[in-house]
Amino acid sequence: MTSTPEFIQIRTEGRVGILTLNRPKQLNALNDQLIDELVAALKAFDADDEIGCMIVTGSEKAFAAGADIGAMASYTFSDVYKSEYITHNWDLIRSIRKPVIAAVSGFALGGGCELAMLCDFIIAADNAKFGQPEIKLAIIPGAGGTQRLPRAIGKSKAMDLVLTGRMMDAQEAERAGLVSRVVPLDKLMDEALGAALTICNYSLPSVMVAKEAVNRAFEGSLTDGAMFERRMFHALFATADQKEGMTAFVEKRKPEFKHR
Ligand code: CAA
Repeated sequence: MTSTPEFIQIRTEGRVGILTLNRPKQLNALNDQLIDELVAALKAFDADDEIGCMIVTGSEKAFAAGADIGAMASYTFSDVYKSEYITHNWDLIRSIRKPVIAAVSGFALGGGCELAMLCDFIIAADNAKFGQPEIKLAIIPGAGGTQRLPRAIGKSKAMDLVLTGRMMDAQEAERAGLVSRVVPLDKLMDEALGAALTICNYSLPSVMVAKEAVNRAFEGSLTDGAMFERRMFHALFATADQKEGMTAFVEKRKPEFKHR
C-alpha cells in the first residue's frame, strides 16, 4: 500500500495476513475509503509470496454494522448511481485468489453481512449477529445480500431476513449454513488463525484451485462447474507438490511442499 490506511489495521502472524476493520465509534460502518483500504491490503497480501491466507475481522462489538448511513443519508439516486457509491469496489474482493476467512464477532449487518459473505468462509463468535436490515431504511441490500444470502441459507430464511430486517444469532447462522463454525468469543482469533495456518501449510496452487473450483459452484451450471473441477484436478498432477504429497503419504511421512 502507498499510504497508511486510516480505517483498517494490518498485521501478519506467520504466513497469515490479518486485516482488522477499525472505525470503532461507528461500529465499523463501511464507507468507500474503508473498502478501498481493505481491497488494497487484500491485493497486497494476495501478491505477497510470504502470505498464504488472510483473515478479515472487526471488533468484539461489531464486525461491521453496515454501510455508513450518515454518509448516505442525503445522497440522491444520481449521486449513488454515478459514483456506484459504496458498491463500486466490493466485487474486487472476489478477485482475491488466496483464501480469505471472515472472523466475525458482534454485529455483521447490511454491508457487514455482505462483506463477510464475500469472504471464503465465516467463523463466528458466539455473540455474532447477522442480518440484512436495509428494509428498515427503505432500501435493499446493495453489495450482494439478495444474491449471496439465498445461495448460502436458502430462499425462505433469506426472504425472512431481508423482508423483516431481523437479526439471526450465531447458532441460527451455523444451523442455516452461513457460518462454518461458532466458537466462544475469546477463542475467535485462535480458531481463525488455526484454520488459516492449516491452509498455509498446504500447497498453494492446490489451495487456490480449490477456492476457484468451489466458487464455480455459485456461477454457472453444474455441468460446467464439474468440468472445470475435473480439468483442474487433472492439471494439479503437473505439480511437484502432488508428487510430494502422494509420495509422503505412501512413505508415511509429512510432506514438504515447495509451493506455499
Ligand atoms: N452507519 C453509520 N453509523 C453507524 C452505523 C451505520 N451503519 N451503525 C451504527 N452506527 C453508529 C451509531 O450512529 C452510533 O453513533 P453515535 O455514537 O455517534 O450515536 C454508534 O455507531 C453506535 O451505535 P448505536 O448507539 O446504535 O449502538 P447500539 O448497540 O444501540 O445498536 C446496532 C447497534 C443495532 C448495530 C445499530 O447501531 C444499528 O441498527 N445500526 C445500523 C444497522 C444497519 O441498518 N445497517 C445497514 C446499513 S445500509 C447497508 O449496509 C447497505 C448495503 O447493503 C451496502
